[in-house]
Amino acid sequence: MQEQLSQINQIIAEIKDFQADTKEKLEIFKSKFTGKKGVITALFDQMKNIAAENRKAFGMELNKLKDIAQEKFKELAEAVEAKSEGSSTKPNDLTLPPIPNTLGSIHPLVQTRARIVEIFERIGFTQSEATEIEDDYHNFTALNFPPNHPAREMQDTFFIEKSKSDSETSSDILLRTHTSSVQIRLMEKQKPPIRSLMIGRVYRNEAISARAHCLFHQVEGLYVDENVGFADLKQTLYHFAKEMFGKDTKVRYRPSYFPFTEPSAEIDVTCLICKGKGCNVCKYSGWVEIAGSGMVHPKVLENCGIDSEKYTGFAFGMGIERVTMLKYQIKDLRLFTENDVRFLRQF
Ligand code: DAH
Repeated sequence: MQEQLSQINQIIAEIKDFQADTKEKLEIFKSKFTGKKGVITALFDQMKNIAAENRKAFGMELNKLKDIAQEKFKELAEAVEAKSEGSSTKPNDLTLPPIPNTLGSIHPLVQTRARIVEIFERIGFTQSEATEIEDDYHNFTALNFPPNHPAREMQDTFFIEKSKSDSETSSDILLRTHTSSVQIRLMEKQKPPIRSLMIGRVYRNEAISARAHCLFHQVEGLYVDENVGFADLKQTLYHFAKEMFGKDTKVRYRPSYFPFTEPSAEIDVTCLICKGKGCNVCKYSGWVEIAGSGMVHPKVLENCGIDSEKYTGFAFGMGIERVTMLKYQIKDLRLFTENDVRFLRQF
């Protein structure tokens, strides 16, 4: 009995000295003293070895020890808790520099698109849309591309469903290769006067490089009414070029070929980089091409149920990427789709 009592006193001393400032140390306390495998439980187990007349007194000493241990545990637990709360409620350090408030910017293609719309809306153009997945008829046949005509190959097409026959009524489903398909959709449901812009994504099966991409954006313009002539086309695009690139910009028309326009012309503007003097961007010609255009082919009007004796029209199509590259002197088309913030932040 004497031996056990001195053991109890020693444990009490140890408990009193015990320091715990972390949860881990608290756990150590528990396993050493108050836990099921701790020393106190072991002492209770020895009760049966104590002579019967001493058992009561020993029991009282043990209970005292147990209370002291539990009390100490509570105390330590509270202190550890208070410490961890304290660290999370520390006031903010107001002398630290602030985290910069970074705002995004509008993508250069979206800015150019908005400017193009603004210019044409002021001269009465509305906007029309159609789907990016098209059938062969609206992308080619109705635009006067005969079956097997080489002009179809100028536009490397992504096919979604390829029909087996090569007949006139080909039912191929494809990703539109130009926004000219929207002209057909529009003229099928609306009769002249028509003055509309058609903007959107187009797709071509081309290897991606600084100058070509499989995905880009076009703006198509269409004006159909009585007495629309080539002079109207020239004046409209001249107005556009001056508004978009500055009042000193000159425009030139080069004869060209598109199946859906007759006559057709390609449109060049003075190179913005060298102001017409000649540089590597304009290949030392002083001019850069921005659009294709022409008078809507009578067959195209007839395909849409519009009387080509009564009505005439002009159309043009230009790449938004091309216009943006010229305006901001961007030399690589891939920058538009890479989402590199170092590029995007500049706009
Ligand atoms: N669709 C032509 C292309 O993608 C561009 C074009 C040329 C559109 C002449 C027109 C046009 O409306 O009249 O290359």
